[in-house]
Amino acid sequence: MTHQILHGDCLFVLREIPDDHINLVYLDPPFFTQSKQSLKSKTMREYSFTDTWESMERYIEFLRERLYEMRRVMKDESTIFFHCDRNASHHIRVLLDDIFGYKRFLSEIIWTYRRWSNTSRSLLGSHQTIFMYSKTANYTFNEIFQDYSETTNLDQILQRRERNKHGKSVYVTDSEGRIVLNGPKKGVPLTDTWEIPFLNPKARERCGYPTQKPLQLLERIIQLATNENDLVLDPFCGSGTTLVAAKLLHRNFIGIDSSIEAVELSRQRVQNPIRSESKLLEAGREAYRNLPDDVIQILRESPVKFVQRNSGIDAIHNFFVGGKPVVLRVQRSGEDLTEAAKKLQQAGRKKDAAMLLLIRTEQDKRQHTFLDVFPADVHVIDSLALSVQSSIENLLQTELSEFAKGNA
Ligand SMILES: C[S@@+](CC[C@H](N)C(=O)[O-])C[C@H]1O[C@@H](n2cnc3c(N)ncnc32)[C@H](O)[C@@H]1O
Repeated sequence: MTHQILHGDCLFVLREIPDDHINLVYLDPPFFTQSKQSLKSKTMREYSFTDTWESMERYIEFLRERLYEMRRVMKDESTIFFHCDRNASHHIRVLLDDIFGYKRFLSEIIWTYRRWSNTSRSLLGSHQTIFMYSKTANYTFNEIFQDYSETTNLDQILQRRERNKHGKSVYVTDSEGRIVLNGPKKGVPLTDTWEIPFLNPKARERCGYPTQKPLQLLERIIQLATNENDLVLDPFCGSGTTLVAAKLLHRNFIGIDSSIEAVELSRQRVQNPIRSESKLLEAGREAYRNLPDDVIQILRESPVKFVQRNSGIDAIHNFFVGGKPVVLRVQRSGEDLTEAAKKLQQAGRKKDAAMLLLIRTEQDKRQHTFLDVFPADVHVIDSLALSVQSSIENLLQTELSEFAKGNA
């Protein structure tokens, strides 16, 4: 078993590793941000590393020397995943073509995540890039499948197809004209765009190391490119995310870092791996959607943003009045209109709303008492279905009374 975390400049440590030894290299070196990266851990310990360079040329030369060593220690069936971002990705792709050959380029993986910070005069960055290259044409690749999207017509996928004599794809039928099924489907092959949440500041997994990557990202890479007991190398291991992922997946690993604090932290994390489960990813986006379908249906055509976890407000209109929001609520089936209005009023006050709009979906058949006080600031609008229903009823009433008059 190899579980090593070594201290030093990876250029020199790599030289101690024999040729053709490693199954997967993942590297996440400084990105050429031209700044010092630092962060405080939960215990207020500060971790940092420098990412300032004399020039882009010096940075690329630094990488080139080390990449040659990485290539040397890689086995023929191995792959390398180079993690970088917009600061230097364009130079790094050319460098990797140079060292591994452009024919060994396999994928440009876009790791995308949501961020909420402000940008000034350009688009808010929400991705990083991981270049995947192999050492030879014969490399390990374990296919990963993802679930079909909600919009996929599963019925069609489950039916077997073939090309007819005109080359057109048609469904296969048996001698009695019945459709033939394809058997179980594995899902859609993993694409090169990976949506994996960035570690939030409160994530259990977060150890306070600057630029720490999520375990989920490394687990996916390791599963794609290695098998159990293979040897994974991270020459810029930082807080040891790759090593923890490798351990959890029963792979061997070698980690290197020039910072002794990083090496110590990696050793601690490997001893006591903590993985935060993303509730969103585990349960899927749908689980976070708790607005009933009929409510969404009613509001869908209006320019609104849905509010998922608020019992008083279902949506906020895109149009603000005097900088204040206009909030909406849909009356639920069987819900008393006054009760619905009170809930909206209460929730709307907390949001300092400019207008409260309640969409009535049912006719009020209840007997009201003097205790029912309808909130005066709530505007009631009938839903389309209710308006149609009332219009039809009114027309029928008129028609009936005309008829009655005629017969009188
Ligand atoms: C972007 S961080 C890696 C973060 C890591 N992937 C994680 O999840 O925590 C880059 C690391 O490279 C290390 N480093 C910088 N120059 C190095 C060198 N010449 N050899 C080894 N490590 C180096 C820094 O100390 C830093 O920990």
